[in-house]
Amino acid sequence: MCGIIGYAGKREDDSLEVLMNGLSGLEYRGYDSSGVAIANSTIEVFKREGHLSALEETLPARTVPGTVGIGHTRWSTHGEPSDRNAHPHTDCQDTVAVVHNGIIENFQSLRDDLAAAGHTFDSDTDTEVVPHLIEHELGNGASHTEAFRRAVDQLEGSYALAAVFEGDHTLYATRQESPLVVGLGEDGCYLASDVPAFIEYTDTVVYLEDGEFVQLDPSGMEVTDSQGNAVETTTDTIEWDPEDAGKSGYDHYMLKEIHEQPTAIRKCLRGRVQELEESVSIDSLSDVSEPGAVHFVACGTSYYAALYGARLFRERGIWAQAFLASEYDPGVIPVDDDTMVVGVTQSGETADTLSALRGANRAGVETIAVTNVVGSSAARACDHTLFIRAGPEIGVAATKTFASQQTALVLLSSALTGYDDPNLLRAFRKLPDQMQSILDRSRADAVAEAYRDADAYFVIGRGYTEPVAYEGALKMKEITYKHAEGFAAGELKHGPLALVTERTPVFALVSDNGMARKTIGNVKEVEARSAPVVAITDVPEMVDPYADFLLEVPKTHEWLMPILANVHLQLVAYSIANQLGRSIDMPRNLAKSVTVE
Ligand code: G6P
Repeated sequence: MCGIIGYAGKREDDSLEVLMNGLSGLEYRGYDSSGVAIANSTIEVFKREGHLSALEETLPARTVPGTVGIGHTRWSTHGEPSDRNAHPHTDCQDTVAVVHNGIIENFQSLRDDLAAAGHTFDSDTDTEVVPHLIEHELGNGASHTEAFRRAVDQLEGSYALAAVFEGDHTLYATRQESPLVVGLGEDGCYLASDVPAFIEYTDTVVYLEDGEFVQLDPSGMEVTDSQGNAVETTTDTIEWDPEDAGKSGYDHYMLKEIHEQPTAIRKCLRGRVQELEESVSIDSLSDVSEPGAVHFVACGTSYYAALYGARLFRERGIWAQAFLASEYDPGVIPVDDDTMVVGVTQSGETADTLSALRGANRAGVETIAVTNVVGSSAARACDHTLFIRAGPEIGVAATKTFASQQTALVLLSSALTGYDDPNLLRAFRKLPDQMQSILDRSRADAVAEAYRDADAYFVIGRGYTEPVAYEGALKMKEITYKHAEGFAAGELKHGPLALVTERTPVFALVSDNGMARKTIGNVKEVEARSAPVVAITDVPEMVDPYADFLLEVPKTHEWLMPILANVHLQLVAYSIANQLGRSIDMPRNLAKSVTVE
């Protein structure tokens, strides 16, 4: 899972700037190395291990002439992060440069054949076979178009690929199970793994489909299918403001995105909750009927949203279960005619989730994608789509998309079951303002100061707050690099209690859900072992005697309490990471969109 940017522009001297801006909008997809190539009468390649800032330092002060170029930010799969493994990769003669996102499964045999034919390789990557295959085809007399196509025909696996050739003003690209989107602007055409890469230049986009090839030049694009036939494309307009993709004065994208949650929730609800009529309706799902059973498939943070969603459906009398997408196999897990599979994926590109959804499609099961990205692979792979409308999320640690996923899942379960509790709908109306009040009165910095040197953190929850306990611990792990674990509160005494000491603060989610007393019982268990307790609660008067810190949650509907409570956990994780000087937006070893299984 890497980020690709391409540009075929009208002006000679702005290619490098466009490519570098594009990479900074894609750095969340991978940041262990990066590089750019600009084609003119030769190909000039600059690449460097490390964050984009390392590449910036290697760039020449002069402009690099050329109207067509490609760039790449990498999250390694084949070959360690290093200068030589960074993309773009070139052929033996440096006549073609290629960037790639995905995995070429048959690269070893291709590489062996090419090496036997005299090609020499400079990297350990699977990608490098592509420029050499192209070179081989050029040697057989193929045109650039033919050589690119014939090379791609030999690949097995998943890929988004883009190539530029010396002496050619055209950019060549294709995709197979990895995203690619074209941007059509006044100053030229753009190509990227994701829209933030070029949103500052154009909001007019065309999403490529698997197996399609595109050629971009400064005046436009030409899309063909795998047989070379012209394809008619659909143009979409992106509704984000370019400012949405910037930091707007916050120190980190993550903090900005935490603060955007009230707005994100308003957008998710807009037009879907009819309070007066006491109903919820979702246009894109108007022809979907109540399922007999629901299987959620998801990874990471989205999996915790799915756990929450499954509980909502069960409470409405529909059997539902969340599965880790990488473990889901509809061949083994029984599905009936009225089973529905719901993929929860903010990016819509997570390979494990896509694979589970495709498996469900093959099994003939109705599928819904709950996603943030219009035109994403999940949106296109599923029968129906529910957009969570969170806007672009750049920080690798998911924050606002989790809040929007939870909100969307409450709507989904209401819309599909005809459930119309007026208390819930009223509570929804207040939710964004209540969230704002948590943001305005955060005590996270004080909690972080007290516990940033702790050995580990535990988070406990019960009922609807259980998934948020897992998510809170995940956030802590991802950005503080400290051990953190979420538990169902009742499970603490069945083993994890052995880990609890005065150096392991316990964050207790205590909700007014009829089970507060039981959870407080668990709080007392850890308090008796001298562990500091941070209570995140809408019943502060009940927990106060046992807590070192009280982080209050305004009274709301029981189902919405976890959405609010999680904001406290996000802010504490952020503050601890910030005080420890961690790389918050780009934590080590992680990437936002994981397009490999
Ligand atoms: C990666 C990200 C996580 C995310 C997970 C699922 O691992 O680092 O933050 O939760 O992918 O992503 P998705 O786009 O499917 O929600």
